[in-house]
Amino acid sequence: MSDSPVPAARLSERPIGVFDSGVGGLTVLRALRAELPAESFIYLGDTARLPYGTKSGHTVARYALQAADELVEGGIKCLVVACNTASAAALPALQQRYAEIPVIGVIEPGARAACAASRSGRIAVLATESTVRGGAYTQAIARLRPDARVTAIACAVFVALAEEGWTDGAVVEAAASRYLAPLRAAGPDALVLGCTHFPVLGQAIAAAVGPGLRIVDSAATTAAAVRQELATRDLLRSVGGDTPVVELLATDGIERFAAVGGRFLGAPIAPGTVELIDL
Ligand code: DGL
Repeated sequence: MSDSPVPAARLSERPIGVFDSGVGGLTVLRALRAELPAESFIYLGDTARLPYGTKSGHTVARYALQAADELVEGGIKCLVVACNTASAAALPALQQRYAEIPVIGVIEPGARAACAASRSGRIAVLATESTVRGGAYTQAIARLRPDARVTAIACAVFVALAEEGWTDGAVVEAAASRYLAPLRAAGPDALVLGCTHFPVLGQAIAAAVGPGLRIVDSAATTAAAVRQELATRDLLRSVGGDTPVVELLATDGIERFAAVGGRFLGAPIAPGTVELIDL
């Protein structure tokens, strides 16, 4: 970013940058578009290096900084890290690097949604191996609710199933039932989908855990946090201005991104509208 600060009025016209390892963050983009219909967005899915969730925190942080650099250099007014794994590994580093703009992750909002949904304080977290290993959710929930008892389960195969567009059927049911077996003993009353790829598997997960357990994700609470932050900094785009634009970028497999991504975004993505970039 340049050294001279951009006036708030001009900065507010810029798009919001959103980044994930693949199509999963489109579940967050969907909530952001619903919450902030006047805003433009530029979304980057780092599909060439997906999955992040099985890699070390150090590697994920390096990838996250490269992806974020690409968005920030393009001129954005706010960065949303729509990936739990990247939020867990790199949020403080990203916030330090781009101190001029708000940088918002999905873990804190997800933890808030989980605490609000739970009465008993027994909370299950489904996430990637890297997110579970780093303990980011357990720590974020403990800050909000020190008496909480968290059961975190790493569900790596869910990412592959979601990217493949397999959201129901025997394979998904078998994976869900195997991953969620430990929850029978833990008896949580709330479950947070701590990976932005998982909301599309929500029905299979709900069927595997049975009734009486509230399933939440971080999309809506993240979108509310972004609105709040932009409003506080006077960075909301004025309603009635230029038509908002949504730009989609991916580092590999743009045809597949368009074909599968619509399910995550909640709206079809026309083939040919995803731009291939290199980081
Ligand atoms: N969507 C990412 C998350 O929220 C993880 C997917 C991956 O493993 O790359 O954690």
